[in-house]
Amino acid sequence: TSDSLLTKAGGELDDRFKLALPARILFNKVFPDHWSFLLGEIALFSFILLLLSGTFLALFFEPSMVEVTYNGVYVPLQGVEMSQAYHSALDLSFEVRGGLFMRQLHHWSTLLFMASILVHMLRIFFTGAFRAPRETNWMIGIVLFWLGFFEGFFGYSLPDDGLSGTGLRIMEGMTESIPFIGPWASAALFGGQFPGTSVISMLYIIHVFVFPLLILALITVHIGLVFAQKHTQWPGPGRTEHNVVGFRMFPNYVMKQVGFMLFIWGVLGAMAGLFQINPIWLFGPYEVSVVSSASQPDFYVMYLDGLIRLFPAWELRIPPYFTLPPVFWPGIVGMGLSVMLPLLYPALERRFTKDRGHHNLLQRPRDNAGRTSLGVMVVVFWIIGVISGGNDVFAEQFDISLNAMTWAGRIGLVVMPIIAYYVTYRICLGLQQHDREVLAHGLETGILMRDPNGRFYEVHQPLAEPDEHGHTELEYNGWVVPKKMNRIGALPPADKGFFKSIEEPSEDGRAERRDEIESGKH
Ligand code: HEM
Ligand code: HEM
Repeated sequence: TSDSLLTKAGGELDDRFKLALPARILFNKVFPDHWSFLLGEIALFSFILLLLSGTFLALFFEPSMVEVTYNGVYVPLQGVEMSQAYHSALDLSFEVRGGLFMRQLHHWSTLLFMASILVHMLRIFFTGAFRAPRETNWMIGIVLFWLGFFEGFFGYSLPDDGLSGTGLRIMEGMTESIPFIGPWASAALFGGQFPGTSVISMLYIIHVFVFPLLILALITVHIGLVFAQKHTQWPGPGRTEHNVVGFRMFPNYVMKQVGFMLFIWGVLGAMAGLFQINPIWLFGPYEVSVVSSASQPDFYVMYLDGLIRLFPAWELRIPPYFTLPPVFWPGIVGMGLSVMLPLLYPALERRFTKDRGHHNLLQRPRDNAGRTSLGVMVVVFWIIGVISGGNDVFAEQFDISLNAMTWAGRIGLVVMPIIAYYVTYRICLGLQQHDREVLAHGLETGILMRDPNGRFYEVHQPLAEPDEHGHTELEYNGWVVPKKMNRIGALPPADKGFFKSIEEPSEDGRAERRDEIESGKH
């Protein structure tokens, strides 16, 4: 029978490779389940697609700045002088079978990759998942973010179209602004004067080899650590700092993950086929003297561009030693802070709160009003930076003066984060209060009653047996408090179908909760 055949094959394999025990441990690993835990997976799945689509592009792309004359099928550019790199990217778009689809797939995957990393990071931040023992994984994550940032930037610099060159020009300006070493660093990068003849081939090796390897290695360590340290979970019935409640790796989690991956790839494939992204043939080849309006970087680079646009033209001269151009502050200092502050945040928070304990249960954002408000403050700062990175487009589309946009950005950047902090703090306190109110008095039912004395009152549905004053002695313990009627004690739906829950049915035959408890220490 097939059974004995399989068993035999399994036995033979185990004899040789000793796989049974590790496989059993792996299959039986328990993961907690929450939609927000899928964000890291979206990053992972789009990264895999980036490796695949990038490999296809690398087969046809020529990373060379040698000047050639365009002789391809796109009529408007015929006879135009351009670099070989731009020529081959045009060929990829118009003449290689499936090439345009692959370019667009690569670009849309990049955008989803960066967006999911950002939201994943916010999830980790706002729920306190970065606290001990997971600070290292937070720091690896921040490094991953910046590797992704530059990998994307280098990627869209490769085709050597009008937009790529404009981005590289800004990078050149930033590099040159570094005191003392700037000009040498820039000359090393561009092989002499900008734009030089070598930067594309250098970025190419970094883009297709160095950074993908680094990212792959770090993702491996990152996910390895999630395995080793176990995933955090939301507090709730039966969940403690020392157990993990959720689904087993096999079959539940594996099935879900594979399905989810195919879904993400399907969505990206549809986007690549249907929606245009980075139509380089419209931008023309890069010329140093041409910067057109509406030159926007990808969204993850935009806040930096925005900061550069907003910063006042303050030039600091200390003759005869050096001149600090304005771009130094937003470009080098701004970026330095954007790397260092997030990297050190877990350590800083630990120092200020003096909380040295290990935490495997997540916090609801409202329960840590200070951190949540700080996070919203940074998000607001970032959004204003992003909007200002496209302030010429806003000015043009809405017929506002560019000057007004710039000043609105400058004032907004200083004022709005403070307002955001205050408002968020109040909202958190309000939510906290409401939770305690519901715990003490029950849920509002919307039913108004009138007693014989003529007093109106609203009927409350208590969450537990009330005392004679109608109060319940429930303590808030970080769990979600039910806010709708008849949700109290609602169980998750019972398991149906082939992949039955692992637990035995209880004595009275009712389906048990399918939650699973992996005992063991964190
Ligand atoms: C181009 C991002 C990995 C090969 C690009 C572009 C971006 C990008 C945004 C510009 C696409 C366009 O023309 O619109 C990324 C990111 C990666 C990644 C974020 C990983 C995290 C890779 C890998 C390879 C690769 C692993 C090859 C093995 C290429 C090539 C181009 C390119 C050859 C130039 C082709 C072209 O732009 O038409 N990349 N990429 N990429 N990428 Fe990647
Ligand atoms: C957890 C992947 C970037 C911090 C995870 C998980 C995956 C993942 C699959 C487990 C599932 C989940 O909680 O979502 C990735 C990939 C990244 C990336 C592929 C980018 C290439 C980041 C960044 C940060 C970060 C930018 C923060 C700065 C963490 C932490 C955990 C985690 C602290 C543990 C969370 C917990 O146990 O609750 N990551 N991540 N990751 N990630 Fe990332």
